[in-house]
Amino acid sequence: MYPLKTLLLSLLLSGFQTLFADEGMLLPLLLKAFESDMQARGMKLTAEDIYSINQASLKDAILQFGGGCTAELVSGQGLLLTNHHCGYSQIQSHSSLEHDYLKNGYWARNTDEELPNPGLTAMRIVRIEDVTEAMLQGTKGKQDKQGIEANMKRWVEKTKAGSHYEVEIKAFDYGNAYYMMVKEVFLDVRFVGTPPNSIGKFGGDTDNWVWPRHTGDFSVFRIYVGKDNKPAPYSKENVPYAPLKHLSISFKERKEGDFTMVYGFPGLTEQHVVSEYLKFIIEKERPARIAMRDLSLAVIDEGMRSSELTRIQYSAKQASIANAWKKWIGQVEGLKNLDGFVVKQREEAAYRKMAETKLEWKKYADVLDRLNELIKAKKNAEFDYAMGVEYFYYGPEYFKLVRGMEELIQNYEKYLEKGELKQVIEKMKTSADLFFKNYNAQVDKGIYKNQTNAYFKYTNQWAAITKNVKYSVTAAWFESYVQSKADIIYGQSIFTDKARYNAFLDGFSVKSLKKLNKDLGYTFFNQYFAPFRNESAMGYRNFQTEVSSLMQLYVEGKYVMFPNEKHWPDANSTLRITYGQLEGSAPIDGMAYTEHTTLNGMIAKNKTGNPDFELAPRMIQLAADKTYGPYGQDGELWVCFTGSNHTTGGNSGSPVLDDQGHLMGLNFDRTWESTMSDYLFDPSRCRNVVVDIRYVLWVMDIYAGASHLVKEMTLVR
Ligand code: ARG
Ligand code: GLU
Repeated sequence: MYPLKTLLLSLLLSGFQTLFADEGMLLPLLLKAFESDMQARGMKLTAEDIYSINQASLKDAILQFGGGCTAELVSGQGLLLTNHHCGYSQIQSHSSLEHDYLKNGYWARNTDEELPNPGLTAMRIVRIEDVTEAMLQGTKGKQDKQGIEANMKRWVEKTKAGSHYEVEIKAFDYGNAYYMMVKEVFLDVRFVGTPPNSIGKFGGDTDNWVWPRHTGDFSVFRIYVGKDNKPAPYSKENVPYAPLKHLSISFKERKEGDFTMVYGFPGLTEQHVVSEYLKFIIEKERPARIAMRDLSLAVIDEGMRSSELTRIQYSAKQASIANAWKKWIGQVEGLKNLDGFVVKQREEAAYRKMAETKLEWKKYADVLDRLNELIKAKKNAEFDYAMGVEYFYYGPEYFKLVRGMEELIQNYEKYLEKGELKQVIEKMKTSADLFFKNYNAQVDKGIYKNQTNAYFKYTNQWAAITKNVKYSVTAAWFESYVQSKADIIYGQSIFTDKARYNAFLDGFSVKSLKKLNKDLGYTFFNQYFAPFRNESAMGYRNFQTEVSSLMQLYVEGKYVMFPNEKHWPDANSTLRITYGQLEGSAPIDGMAYTEHTTLNGMIAKNKTGNPDFELAPRMIQLAADKTYGPYGQDGELWVCFTGSNHTTGGNSGSPVLDDQGHLMGLNFDRTWESTMSDYLFDPSRCRNVVVDIRYVLWVMDIYAGASHLVKEMTLVR
């Protein structure tokens, strides 16, 4: 462990060196290079046990869940574990006031009670291949986008041919490398069980991203397949999947220093961003995005507090908005504390210096200046885009229905010609049913009022709006302007009321466009969305293209000029491994975090009347009786622990494995002080947060009485 000062100092002295012993999200097919280091830290496995294309290996038990999270197979009958927050929208979709699975939990007593989830998938990686050479073949080089794309297409087609697999080729390190992923996508994933929110979401947003933690963040699903054990769309005839590999459960007593490894699908890291960009993130972009969400959360939280129905309707949306919001606050603070800008500038100085030492490295010498200049000059393109994303995609929800209507209007003639119009309209009505099930127009109106003001300010659109106003424009005038729009949109528009919306669709004809053009909900959206889509989004794309072509050169230089460093490509939702150990931290002066929490600690947080911390009487009773079954250790029941594994969003639900590859727990978070690790990893303070598998099994078995599920698993004592 390096205290921060030493870390910065040695960075300063040595430029880049392998200080970040625990940093990195490694590609499983390249693991051989790290095998000896992993073994030196206690791992008893070989690289081949973890990833193999010749035999079943741990990788076959790891799935990407629903496109965003990770899940793992824990039985020979396709039983799948992931986080509670990863299964949250499924749990919510099966919930109603009568069957409130959020509040009470759910446990299927047999396979008949396992519930289908239309659209939910689970994906297994069949194999990964380095196809860099093949992608560059016959092209004008790494910058030849068209040439590379053509190669990609050909390869994907060729590899797919005759198999039931999906194939994807992705750029790594800004196009310095290409890897091909062959995937098996399971289409019938059923909901098996969940603990109540008082366990699965214990601590709520108050404890989210925070240590100490006591969240039982897990839910249970099962993969179903056709009779041939291959993926098939949902059917009553489908049977539980018999996997190539499932994980065994580790009951071994845990202690600080134990080897840990996380295997999953991390979403996005940006370790290479340059100093000016980091400054932009810290000083401008994040604060504005945080402020936009402050405005919507204020309205949603108030709505959820005052009505049970609103609480259920908005629980998943609120969790998703609040999650990134809170992470960003932590990131900004962490990057400031770490002096991120200065750390980056020092790295950059070392890079420049190195580039001067050899003639053939000259091409790297000015790439950083060019990058930093570009960002200084054009960062507003990214800012405007980010604000548009916040407003149009995370803001007033009725916008979503307008976008759907646009689609109908664009394709109206085509649908008419093909005789599909009726069908399309029926489909729109069905999805509107789902939309309005979780919609409250008063809440949406509040969001609209709050955010519209802010969006116009941030993106400097005041001038455009007020240019026809004769008298001088004040903030109060602007507010009443937005208020009057809101009254009309939420009082009259077809997009803010289910009956109005359905009536409109029922009578849809050529004349409907005329009606739409008189609907303020419609015209307002289009008036401001069009410039966002045409100008901001384009501007952002062009900016990104310029940045990433320079980043390609910059990162190439890191590999070339610093060959002895540990290099790893940024996370990009592909399968990765990261390793470290079970370990606490001391991120704040005068304060240390121990490495695990217990059931007693959870009981101590109990607060009647506070929905984040209210425990069920059964939980309190079991804790008082110390009914730990076989799941305790040293007279305690571990709930969560932390590790020094480099993880990020998407690693949620990832298995945390011990030295033998057995399941110790489910990754679900990072501590507040580590959220900046997407940009800068600090081994002394960055910790991932894990729910202990023994607690997970305790909840299933002893708390909920779903012991039939535990019996399916392979327990290693
Ligand atoms: N922070 C975790 C993650 O990024 C957990 C989020 C779910 N929990 C919550 N209280 N919103 O996804
Ligand atoms: N909870 C996050 C997820 O959904 C993982 C936490 C993190 O960002 O490290 O993937």
